[in-house]
Amino acid sequence: EGSFDEECDYLFKAVLIGDSAVGKSNLLSRFARDEFLLDSKPTIGVDFAYRNIKVADKLIKAQIWDTAGQERFRAVTSSYYRGALGALLVYDITRKTTFENMKKWLHELRKFGDSNMVVVLAGNKSDLGHSREVDVEEGRSFAKLEGLCFLETSARENLNVEEAFLQMITKIY
Ligand code: GTP
Ligand code: MG
Repeated sequence: EGSFDEECDYLFKAVLIGDSAVGKSNLLSRFARDEFLLDSKPTIGVDFAYRNIKVADKLIKAQIWDTAGQERFRAVTSSYYRGALGALLVYDITRKTTFENMKKWLHELRKFGDSNMVVVLAGNKSDLGHSREVDVEEGRSFAKLEGLCFLETSARENLNVEEAFLQMITKIY
């Protein structure tokens, strides 16, 4: 409804980043529409979704941007980060390389993003504990070292998804 825009106190832009197939698009669809797709296609270009939330009596319209983890499908990096106040940095706990690449993503984030951005590190697919390649402790200590918030999530089981986005949003307002 157009009326919401007038009543809304803040517009909040946040971005999702991380390697291909870590579950960025499913975290977003879970947060925005409570949907999960087992066979989702890689994102091409940029996609976004909104969700209205209330934090301490303020109405916040969260606009979450999602892009391709695959280089060849990515859109212009500087415009993706422009105006973003938060970022969800996502890896897959069952694939070590996606965790190792967090350094690279963080570097890009710091190069293009605002220096005050609130960054949350999310180890996704926590439902696949039997194939785990990254210990919770590894995620936690990397986050601590880099000054990020941290949690493990599962878009599939809807674990900590709400919390991950809310941590980002409540830190700002
Ligand atoms: P790109 O768009 O290519 O960057 O990938 P993406 O990070 O958006 O990944 P996407 O959300 O498309 O998910 C990739 C695959 O992982 C899909 O088959 C999802 O069903 C699956 N997936 C996503 N989140 C989870 C999760 O929490 N648990 C499990 N078991 N599978 C998940
Ligand atoms: Mg995607």
